[in-house]
Amino acid sequence: MVAKRGSDRQFKVNPIEWVAGKPIKDSTLVAFRFLGSKRRVIPKLDTILKMNGVRNCTFGDFFAGSTAVSQYAKSARFTVKATDVLRTSYVLLRALIQVIRLPQFHGLRNQIKSAGDGARYERVLQYLENLPGKPGFIYDNYCPSGKSSRSRSFFSDANGKKIDAVREEIANWRWDGKITDLEHDFLLASLLISASRCANTAGSFYAYLRKPDKRISKQLKLPRLQVIDVARPHEVANMTAEEAADIFEVHALYLDPPYNKQQYAAHYHLLETIAWGDRPELYGRNGIRPYAEIRSAFCSVQTAAKALSTILRKTNARHVILSYGKNGILDEKEIIQILSNFGEVKIYEFSINSYQNHHTSSNRACERMYYASKD
Ligand SMILES: C[S@@+](CC[C@H](N)C(=O)[O-])C[C@H]1O[C@@H](n2cnc3c(N)ncnc32)[C@H](O)[C@@H]1O
Repeated sequence: MVAKRGSDRQFKVNPIEWVAGKPIKDSTLVAFRFLGSKRRVIPKLDTILKMNGVRNCTFGDFFAGSTAVSQYAKSARFTVKATDVLRTSYVLLRALIQVIRLPQFHGLRNQIKSAGDGARYERVLQYLENLPGKPGFIYDNYCPSGKSSRSRSFFSDANGKKIDAVREEIANWRWDGKITDLEHDFLLASLLISASRCANTAGSFYAYLRKPDKRISKQLKLPRLQVIDVARPHEVANMTAEEAADIFEVHALYLDPPYNKQQYAAHYHLLETIAWGDRPELYGRNGIRPYAEIRSAFCSVQTAAKALSTILRKTNARHVILSYGKNGILDEKEIIQILSNFGEVKIYEFSINSYQNHHTSSNRACERMYYASKD
């Protein structure tokens, strides 16, 4: 089958105008610094879905990353099935997608007084923010004065100790049965987001900045998460997209795999350690945790094409939307070939304000989405 190119190729989309469900304002998406986040692309994705008649169905987001696309899909009243290999993404998915009512933290009633159940979440966050800092694994390894840190400066000493204190407290609450697993992940998601906001990095955690960024002096503040109140049985997982394609039945499937050799597991190693709450052996100048188990097949020339084909062969989706950067491991010809085995292919291109880091000189980027349909 030949890909349809023609008029769709140079594609300009107007600002967001959603028809189904409550419109989501950009400000309601949780801002999370994440390489390749599609936060800014969401209005384009929304328009592409509408143009192709994709509404009110089950929507898969199998490379969920920051969860921006899943949050959009939940808000636009799709039933969401999402996964990512990162534990960090999984915790965010649990908090922002799986949770459909603000947790009440009933089990903390005796410990944290509040005017009513609705107010308890705020009091719980205030309690955690006011905990005295406590040196632990993050302080020891990633803060300038930590005993094993070799002067690594990912966080200020004060924020490193605070992260350790909050992480330990919520783990103890769960251990003692005072909070549920979902309440635990709801609080942990706030901690992960706040840690990324006060980190002395250029975006990812691959390395810390030798000349400290002003973020490092920000006080750790736990963001108040808003629950997108859409009572549907959203499902989230912490597995590969290749595995999820076997398990999650979806009508529309959004795929946003890595397109170069950079392993996300290495770039987000520090958040992964906070998410797992473990004490791994660390390697190298930047104290990276081992990540062999979650190396992505999409980051290798030898395996990327096969991995994409596997997902498309396994999924029962009728519509597939693929984001894939130019100059990636797979070139346009290979992608079209693989997608053509699935259905009719269209290509959309548009320009957006790109994710910026210290090495980015331009703030405009050309993004591309491939759409393939069995209809
Ligand atoms: C480009 S990012 C996705 C960004 C996401 N769409 C967003 O808006 O934030 C790629 C993501 O794919 C994940 N990943 C890599 N290989 C994977 C695989 N085989 N299965 C599932 N997730 C994978 C990475 O952990 C990373 O979060």
